[in-house]
Amino acid sequence: MYHRILIKKEQDILTAISLAYTEMSNTPYSMSEKQQIIVTISELCKNIIFHSYSSGYVVIEKLNIGLRISAIDSGVGIASIENVINGVKNPNSKGLGLGLTGVRTMMDFFEIESQTQGGTKVIVEKWYSRTPSRTVT
Ligand SMILES: Nc1ncnc2c1ncn2[C@@H]1O[C@H](COP(=O)(O)OP(=O)(O)O)[C@@H](O)[C@H]1O
Ligand SMILES: [Mg+2]
Repeated sequence: MYHRILIKKEQDILTAISLAYTEMSNTPYSMSEKQQIIVTISELCKNIIFHSYSSGYVVIEKLNIGLRISAIDSGVGIASIENVINGVKNPNSKGLGLGLTGVRTMMDFFEIESQTQGGTKVIVEKWYSRTPSRTVT
C-alpha cells in the first residue's frame, strides 16, 4: 500500500498517524516498534510544518521488510546536515534538537537530502524484527 499525505497543518499529522496505524495492523511489529514509527512520523511532520516554511508530503509505503516513510518538502532546506545528524543544536530552534538524531536511532534505514532553499527529503525504514506470523487457513 502507498499513501501520500499533504502536510501543512498540525491536523495533517493525525491523518498521517492514523494511516500508519492502518498499515501497521496485521504486521509483526511489536508495540514499541509501532511507537517508534509514530514518533518518527510526528517528528518528520513537525519539521515540515515548523522548519521548512513550506508544506510537504509524507509518503507511507509498505515493503516486504517493513514500512518506509518519506518526508518531502520544497522549503528552506537544512544548512548543515552534518550538524543535524550529530545533534548539534540549531540556536534558533525552540525544539530540543533531538528530533532527527532520535529518528535516526529508532529507524533501521535513514537517508537525508537537503539543499539550502532547495527543500528537504528524509527517507526512513523500519524493518520487521520478528518474522510475520503465518496466515492460518
Ligand atoms: N524539513 C526541514 N526543513 C528545514 N529545516 C529543517 C527541516 N527539518 C529539520 N530542519 C532543521 O534541522 C534542525 C534539527 O531538526 P530536529 O533534529 O528535528 O530538531 P528540532 O526540530 O527539535 O530543532 C531544525 O532545528 C531545523 O533547523
Ligand atoms: Mg524536529
